[in-house]
Amino acid sequence: MEVFDMREFDGHELVLFGHDAPTGLRAVIAIHSTVLGPAAGGCRMWPYQTATEAVSDVLRLSRGMSYKNAMAGLPFGGGKAVIIGDSRTGKTPELFAAFGRMVDSLRGRYVTAEDVGTTTVDMAHVARATKYVSGLGRSPGEAGGDPAPKTALGVFLGIKAAVKFRLGRNDLTGLTVAVQGAGGVGYHLCGMLAAAGARLKVADVLPRAVERVCDEFRAAPVAAVRVLEEEADVLAPCALGAVLNTRSIARLRVPVVAGAANNQLAHGQDGQALRAAGILYAPDYVINAGGIISVAREYYGGTEAQVVEDIHGIPARLSEIFERARRESRTTNEVADQIARERLKREPERLVA
Ligand code: NAI
Repeated sequence: MEVFDMREFDGHELVLFGHDAPTGLRAVIAIHSTVLGPAAGGCRMWPYQTATEAVSDVLRLSRGMSYKNAMAGLPFGGGKAVIIGDSRTGKTPELFAAFGRMVDSLRGRYVTAEDVGTTTVDMAHVARATKYVSGLGRSPGEAGGDPAPKTALGVFLGIKAAVKFRLGRNDLTGLTVAVQGAGGVGYHLCGMLAAAGARLKVADVLPRAVERVCDEFRAAPVAAVRVLEEEADVLAPCALGAVLNTRSIARLRVPVVAGAANNQLAHGQDGQALRAAGILYAPDYVINAGGIISVAREYYGGTEAQVVEDIHGIPARLSEIFERARRESRTTNEVADQIARERLKREPERLVA
């Protein structure tokens, strides 16, 4: 494997391979950029079939974190870690402590947190070996804890901004939102949308996840294979990446796509197809930054109220992107990438005094 020649390699500052024989840890940490601050991004545990697959994922994800953190105005660069293993069977406290030692060896250039396959409990074991970890438990009123409700709040506010821009509506009353994925983020998002008077169409591959939102928020169930073709005012992808591709975009029946899932566009050029179809796309890493905003406030020490205030900055950033895209006849994802790249070259806005 030649890392420097991989398609996902984008001038990353550092790629660290870690192995710990006693615990069986096999992990890769990638630091994309520390220009704006220590590289921050979660630790994913996934049963990658090959080391190349793991490296490709960590390179792509760490670059995404640089863009997300820059766009959210956080004093963090972009990084990510992957542990090769099955999160259902391969976890031990010692494995995460060994991962903590690996993180600690970077002396603060990388700050870790939970991601797919890892939890606050795992991060508590990481914290035995390093202070460069966030996403731990918290006391009432303090920043931190489960990031999913915070991500949902940002997505909810982002949907309102997108609806205002595309449909000229100041509220969601009576509008229909199709939600793909009723997990950690999707569930909380459905609650907020229902409280705001929206009608919900919800799909999940887990029947009990759909039943829960149908019972609690009067959502209408939709088959998981059909949700992308549902007629609605907004489609909110909150499950998987790469759901917006040439095939699916041709079948969409919505004027707005705004959801939490990371990497929604299969390819950057899919943004062109959305624009050509008259669909407003809220760039994923801008609208879904609520979770990392919470993690950042927790790391530097802050309150829950500050987290909520910071998240209320998301709709303004989206509106700026929507306006600029319209003015310059470009796609929203191109405009977002450009703004993020510009920010990566300059000083961060101060999160801490
Ligand atoms: P989750 O794993 O709790 O929920 C995802 C849900 O999607 C699950 O209920 C799953 O059954 C469902 N699902 C999977 N495949 C599906 C399909 N084909 N059709 C319909 N439903 C399907 O994950 P979570 O935390 O809610 O995250 C959702 C998305 O948002 C992910 O893409 C994640 O990377 C992204 N995200 C999450 C953040 C967080 O704070 N949790 C922060 C930023 C992004």
